[in-house]
Amino acid sequence: MTVSATDLLSVGDVARRAGIATSAVRYYEAEGLIASVRTSGNQRRYPRHVLRRIGIILAARRFGIPLSEVAEVFECLPHDRMPGKRDWGRISATWHARLEARRLELERLEAELTGCIGCGCLSLSACRIVNPGDELAADGPGARRLHPEDAESEQA
Ligand code: FES
Repeated sequence: MTVSATDLLSVGDVARRAGIATSAVRYYEAEGLIASVRTSGNQRRYPRHVLRRIGIILAARRFGIPLSEVAEVFECLPHDRMPGKRDWGRISATWHARLEARRLELERLEAELTGCIGCGCLSLSACRIVNPGDELAADGPGARRLHPEDAESEQA
């Protein structure tokens, strides 16, 4: 796909239109999330459609989705065209499922924490926050919370 010179934006133009710092534009490029071309004077120019990609990156930030996961979904997008409605539909469905799983996990944690309100026992055997699923029981009887540094200092 050929991009005309009028479709190319400077790093400052991209930053201004996206409402982000120029350093963020360069960072996203360094992470492979957006791509630029070079002018004959070796200046970066970005196709106008990188603004759509940056929009998706900014949406991901709002959802707490790390750039590594943005990179995963971008692998399915060609660099030479604007992500379309169908692309965004697929990406947003993936992220919706992720947010739903996180919401359910937060609800489960909230329910467990509710049992701690007003308790304060921090019991290794009774508190599901301190010892979720009684995981320490699999290690056998006795103290299991010693840090390696503590054990070394006790032996010295
Ligand atoms: S602090 Fe007592 S159950 Fe969590």
